[in-house]
Amino acid sequence: MDFKLTEEQLMIQRAAREFAQQQCLPGVIDRDEKQQLPKEQLLQLAELGFLGMMVSPEYGGAGMDTVSYVLAMEEISKVDSSVSVCMSVNNSLVCWGLEHYGTEAQKQQYLKPLAHGIKDGQLYTGAFLLSEPEAGSDATHQHTSAIDNGDHYIINGVKNWITNGSSASVYLVIAQTDYTKGHKGINAFIVEKNTPGITVGAKENKMGIRGSDTHAISFTDVKVAKENRIGAEGFGFNFAMNTLNGGRIGIAAQALGIASGAYELALAYSKQRKTFGKPIHEHQAIQFKLAEMATKIETARLLCFKAAWEKDNHLDYTTTAAMAKLHASDTAMWVTTEAVQVHGGYGFVKEFHVERLMRDAKITQIYEGTSEIQKMVIGRSITR
Ligand code: CAA
Repeated sequence: MDFKLTEEQLMIQRAAREFAQQQCLPGVIDRDEKQQLPKEQLLQLAELGFLGMMVSPEYGGAGMDTVSYVLAMEEISKVDSSVSVCMSVNNSLVCWGLEHYGTEAQKQQYLKPLAHGIKDGQLYTGAFLLSEPEAGSDATHQHTSAIDNGDHYIINGVKNWITNGSSASVYLVIAQTDYTKGHKGINAFIVEKNTPGITVGAKENKMGIRGSDTHAISFTDVKVAKENRIGAEGFGFNFAMNTLNGGRIGIAAQALGIASGAYELALAYSKQRKTFGKPIHEHQAIQFKLAEMATKIETARLLCFKAAWEKDNHLDYTTTAAMAKLHASDTAMWVTTEAVQVHGGYGFVKEFHVERLMRDAKITQIYEGTSEIQKMVIGRSITR
């Protein structure tokens, strides 16, 4: 077993760290407060090649492996998860799905600019529209319909909690074509955001990742050409599930970054803050907290790497990805709460980053499959 990162992976990690520290850190508290989309940072990320980092160069991507993606996601999420969630959705839920299941024409038209993240000088990203007001965890029960109407489908319904909802140019929409067939009657479609009949709702006022744009999206008689369906008729639910497996590695890495960011801040603070005549890390109460944080983070990192390695080696990574997300998101919640505790009163105010990291951690236990869904996936796999 070789835990050593390659030169290329180390280089990507360094580039992501520099980007996070130099471009994301300044103004991150203000953007969070104002719920401001980190557009400038996303454009820089596109220039770095990170918005389509795993897409093959043939389709305009950087052709990097999933381990590199985990490294980059960790570094950026230490600082700004409103940036990293956009990166994760575009890479894992949008580009990966199109590269693996799209037609050549779909790849030429949509994947290429999405992998670059820029088109005609503007940010060009995608969003993944699966969740609905009454179909979140229970994703097979889609209410949004896509009715076959000759050479096109007509989509009606509402999607919600959509990351990149207003900033994305391309939506991958999951909808029900045949209600008699259950999840085998679901299809996935590529829909351009400016298609008539699409309405983007107000931005959600969230607890964390407040810069990222999360919206409900309504569809009223939206016409989508047949050639924009992804995969064979009835493949939409399997498309969504297969795509989400990789997405879960991205969110696990995001949670890992939130945890390690909070841990690094707590460690630094514990060396500088003194009580009872000595730095607080010399008190066993604090040192034990730091030791437990470091241990949980390392186990989360190993699970992220294992899931990424399995994906890179074309093995079934479904269960490990679910384990990584479950463990890393619980770790993020626990570590950030403890990091606030280490900071005492300073951890409770917005000038100190741990307060925001604690709020950001919560979503990692919810999106791309709640912790309860991850336990279902793991439970079904180990008892099969
Ligand atoms: N990987 C691959 N296939 C999977 C899968 C997985 N992890 N989980 C289920 N499937 C497949 C099954 O094999 C089955 O396919 P076949 O019929 O072809 O064999 C099909 O999906 C249906 O599965 P089940 O019969 O197990 O269906 P179920 O209703 O009992 O359970 C579920 C399905 C696992 C709960 C699924 O609905 C699920 O994962 N729910 C969570 C959805 C989710 O993660 N939503 C996140 C929203 S996206 C988001 O957050 C994006 C964002 O903007 C950040």
